[in-house]
Amino acid sequence: MTAATNNPGKGEGQKVGVAILGLGTVGTEVLRLLNEKSEDFERRIGGPVEVVGVAVSDKSKPRPNVNPDLITDDAFSLVQRDDVDLVIEVIGGIDYPRRVVLEALRAGKSVVTANKALVAAHGAELSDAADSSGVDLFFEAAVAAAIPVVGPLRRSLAGDTVNKVVGIVNGTTNFILDAMDSTGADYQEMLAEATRLGYAEADPTSDVEGHDAASKAAILAGLAFHTRVTAADVYCEGISKITAEDIAAAKSADCTIKLLATCERVVDEDGSEAISARVYPALIPRRHPLATVRESFNAVFIEAEAAGRLMFYGNGAGGNPTASAVLGDLVAAARNIVHGGRAPGDSTYANLPILDFGQVRTRYHIDLHVDDRVGVLADVARTFSDNGISLRTVRQEGSDEGARLVIVTHQALEKELEDTVEQLRANDAVLAVNNVIRIEGMDV
Ligand code: HSE
Repeated sequence: MTAATNNPGKGEGQKVGVAILGLGTVGTEVLRLLNEKSEDFERRIGGPVEVVGVAVSDKSKPRPNVNPDLITDDAFSLVQRDDVDLVIEVIGGIDYPRRVVLEALRAGKSVVTANKALVAAHGAELSDAADSSGVDLFFEAAVAAAIPVVGPLRRSLAGDTVNKVVGIVNGTTNFILDAMDSTGADYQEMLAEATRLGYAEADPTSDVEGHDAASKAAILAGLAFHTRVTAADVYCEGISKITAEDIAAAKSADCTIKLLATCERVVDEDGSEAISARVYPALIPRRHPLATVRESFNAVFIEAEAAGRLMFYGNGAGGNPTASAVLGDLVAAARNIVHGGRAPGDSTYANLPILDFGQVRTRYHIDLHVDDRVGVLADVARTFSDNGISLRTVRQEGSDEGARLVIVTHQALEKELEDTVEQLRANDAVLAVNNVIRIEGMDV
């Protein structure tokens, strides 16, 4: 938290030199807006902002709207130049941007990044480098793009105790689940639709398997609980196993299914605290504010001791919304460059342990295909009770080929549920465990 150097500032009216690393959708928008609104930026900052270099991987690619003198493929040299005060990293990936951003921070340049994977994997190292040089490291765009959530957690809620952050932080998966919910179509069909409309990438793995949301959960949990959390600390399941039948079952329980990033402070009976960060598709009641988040929108729901419940909603992806967050950070960092000082760095003093996933407590919706004969229901119910799990509802639908049992539990530990499911799978009368979906948000 303590800066090794005090930044006195360049002084009112002095120029802030900016290097942009990466000229994809976001980098292009950032450059366009900086050029178009240069007078506004100057007034907001107290000195002019000038883009003095743009690093790209392929210099030969035609870029009609960019001054060719700005283009370089040597990002390492660019970030060290004396005329660069501030670096915007919008490259993506982890290893290469990590090395360039570290180079920039060590050279005393403030950094604004939109790179969630980088921050979630190496945030501590980057933050330490920023602290050592006394410069700023901002990453509002790394979580839910235009939606201000990093700033509120870092600043507005710094005086409160955050107990829970639950977010829909991936637009692709929200689009797919929402489309499944409104059309009744299956996952593959709606994934194809998301790809056709440009929401899903050619390789959708990172989105649909929850990795993108897990990076964002790590960042949110770290900020909310003043603890270092990496993506590797986040339990992660995606949406690719969600079926049209699951969505229909959720509907009949007056719920919908959302991919949730849940960050929670857990206090055990003896008062000791731990935190949990997890991503998985979950049933939530339709009355829950997050259930109203449709299409590819994102939202983050926060519960804090004094503030109560807050919800932040909006565009969580795309060139313009991401550029909005990057430029907000740019203004904050540039003001410090002109007027002196720096924003507080990472607050990780609490250093809370990460709860083992087996110790997470939630409710479950279990869909079984069983033999329809005497004693099977009692046998299944006994497996739950033997593992200490109390049942809330049990619904049976008969068919020619056995019966479908849909069971909803009261709160139980993941470990208890895992043992139960293992024993159910070993039971000859259980023909299939169709799906196990967690239930969140019942207390809202
Ligand atoms: N691919 C992400 C999404 C946006 O679908 O929300 C970038 O994190």
